[in-house]
Amino acid sequence: MRCCSSAAGSHCVDGRSSASTAQLLSDRGVHPIRVGAPVASRPGAPRTRGASVASSSVPRHLPDPEALLADAPLVWAALSTAGWSAAALDELMGPTARTHLDRDELAPVLRRTAGGSLLEVLARLFVVGASVDLKQARAAGVPETWLVPDGYGVAAAVRLQAVVHDGVEVVVAHDPGRASEGVHPQQVLGVGAASLTLAAATPRASVGRTLDLGAGSGVQALLAEDHSSTVVATDANPRATAYARLSAALNGVTVDARTGDLLEPVRGELFDLVVSNPPFVLGPAARYTYRDGGQEGDELCRRLVQDLPGHLVEGGTAVLLANWLHVEGEDGDDRVRSWFGPGVDGWVVQRELAAPQDYVTAWLRDTDEGARFDELYDDWMAWFDLRRVEAVAFGVLALQRGSGRVHLDDVPQPTAATWGEQIPAFFDRQRALDAGLLATAWRLREDVRLDQTAVRGEDGWYAQAQVLRQEAGLRWVGGVDPYGAALLAGCDGTRRLGELLSVLARSADITEDDAAEQVLPVVERLVQQGFLVP
Ligand SMILES: C[S@@+](CC[C@H](N)C(=O)[O-])C[C@H]1O[C@@H](n2cnc3c(N)ncnc32)[C@H](O)[C@@H]1O
Repeated sequence: MRCCSSAAGSHCVDGRSSASTAQLLSDRGVHPIRVGAPVASRPGAPRTRGASVASSSVPRHLPDPEALLADAPLVWAALSTAGWSAAALDELMGPTARTHLDRDELAPVLRRTAGGSLLEVLARLFVVGASVDLKQARAAGVPETWLVPDGYGVAAAVRLQAVVHDGVEVVVAHDPGRASEGVHPQQVLGVGAASLTLAAATPRASVGRTLDLGAGSGVQALLAEDHSSTVVATDANPRATAYARLSAALNGVTVDARTGDLLEPVRGELFDLVVSNPPFVLGPAARYTYRDGGQEGDELCRRLVQDLPGHLVEGGTAVLLANWLHVEGEDGDDRVRSWFGPGVDGWVVQRELAAPQDYVTAWLRDTDEGARFDELYDDWMAWFDLRRVEAVAFGVLALQRGSGRVHLDDVPQPTAATWGEQIPAFFDRQRALDAGLLATAWRLREDVRLDQTAVRGEDGWYAQAQVLRQEAGLRWVGGVDPYGAALLAGCDGTRRLGELLSVLARSADITEDDAAEQVLPVVERLVQQGFLVP
């Protein structure tokens, strides 16, 4: 099953912050970039009265995903027969289904799945977490190994999520459970905003070997399987590696899932692509395996950045999500830059800088700590105070083996739904910059547009402002003067910048040195941001 979307930020306990929701947000230009964005939890949200909701959604005993593996092909067949797809589920459950589910408002989704069709039965079992009649479950082809008794009916042991990204659709298995009902320390989450942020930043060119480190439900591994010859998925939580295997089986693909700490399961192995959505959250306690790295400060992400280059082939790329600290008296940008070793080129795409209190409250809401909120808030803030933390940054870190260039971009603007293709393009531009700005024949990127604002004068319209805009990638926007615009129009990849500058100087009746002084810093910025490519 295959089919799109992006967003950033947080994990989501029951995985209901689906691709569709994130797509909706980015389509509206509302990019949900929040560190610890509490997508799933709604503290104190009332449970819909009379709804037939599986008690199994309370993760008292987490299911054993290993035990479900043998019958995964039967479930795959049941999904196919019922016409399961993200689009079909959206149509069945309605455009606001995700919002209702996130708020634990079950009546609207139960009403829309009351007809008893195969897809309605599967949606109730695997998406809503509601119980159905055993006969209905059997008729829909769900094997009994995948069912648990629930009142007079049965419920599904696990949840399934249809995820669509950049034309590829996969189905992902994960633990049941709602934040408002307590998160188990070993809970394996569905696809949340952070998962989608990494998926959006992943380069999708065909590669040989891909590693998904911290695989969880296996969503990154499954998406990567579409453009990789081999995918290795690793996780410290054996339940997560079992889920990655289960999700792969449900999609009829093979993922080599291994259990172990960080890079330990792939010691001595090289990859063309590494993707990782690690437990990057920074705080005092390792309470949740999916969230807390359990190392001092931002040490886990630093270690990954330090060790990942040793697992990349020449020209290979690693992309990971990270939080890093801004500590009083230190430069936070320098801190993250210092993580990249001398033989490594790095690109830091910072998406957010959060004040400690906002960071802590967001993550506490994410797991809906209820009565313990105040106590946990105080502990967490005391931990930050002791380390003189002023802010926590969140971003995407990309690296390749290279010569030690590290560049940080603060990117608060909404990006395209997928922008992973910009990562190899960024490293190519850095190498071209090394060859020399003037010596390179730059080309305006295909998706760049020039918007003009004109005012009416006595003799017609006069351009008042010109704004360059990218329609793809990081969607940078920036003003440019008429000379700059004329220069850019000449950047068609056939003439070196030095030649174009001479022409510009002659037409403006200034010396080439003066033209260079004015133009080169602007051109360099335009190259850094990808308006101009080699
Ligand atoms: C935020 S989840 C990411 C899940 C999934 N890759 C995604 O994008 O939705 C982080 C995952 O890292 C795993 N993890 C935690 N500590 C780890 C460690 N030391 N080594 C490897 N994996 C770890 C957790 O079990 C969890 O599955």
